[in-house]
Amino acid sequence: MYDNWEALERACLECRKCGLCQDRRHVVFGVGSAQAKVLFVGEGPGEHEDLQGEPFVGRGGQLLDKYLAAVDLDRKTNVYIANIVKCRPPQNRDPLPEEQEACIGWLRNQFALLRPKIVVCLGRVAAMRMMKPDIKITKEHGVFVEKNGTLMMATLHPAALLRNPKQKPAAFEDYLRLREKIDELGCDIAK
Ligand code: URA
Repeated sequence: MYDNWEALERACLECRKCGLCQDRRHVVFGVGSAQAKVLFVGEGPGEHEDLQGEPFVGRGGQLLDKYLAAVDLDRKTNVYIANIVKCRPPQNRDPLPEEQEACIGWLRNQFALLRPKIVVCLGRVAAMRMMKPDIKITKEHGVFVEKNGTLMMATLHPAALLRNPKQKPAAFEDYLRLREKIDELGCDIAK
């Protein structure tokens, strides 16, 4: 475990713990405020993220930014966004269990430094890993559950919403619930 962000990021950028390191253009460490009380967790970088070295910068990311802005959240100033795996799986396939296992220590260290009050899982892969392996995200999204003192909620993955726009209103409700929860806990930080 690293006790500061700089050392953690430096080590993560050098990581060769699994085969995904071979074809990566960037390690996608994470983005956001070290003071954030809300941590968003996605699955893993796609093509745009691999090219730019930042999570959720493709079309899905633009949708995520829109939803965040609507509830007064912002990727640079008052949330933190990271992924289960930090390097892009080929053809955007789901990260394999052994890749997740090799990589999860980086996220655990990010979690330990951040000590978020709320974790929002973006999509099935993150929700299965962070919340419970048999989660049914279409049924259970938007519901907060407490796990070891942290509130966790899953929402639909932005890329899934682009494929199936009918789900957008239901997903947007999750962001409204998130805002309510932040206000209830009084854990907002200034933008
Ligand atoms: N999808 C994810 O799960 N994470 C990203 O960073 C980009 C797309």
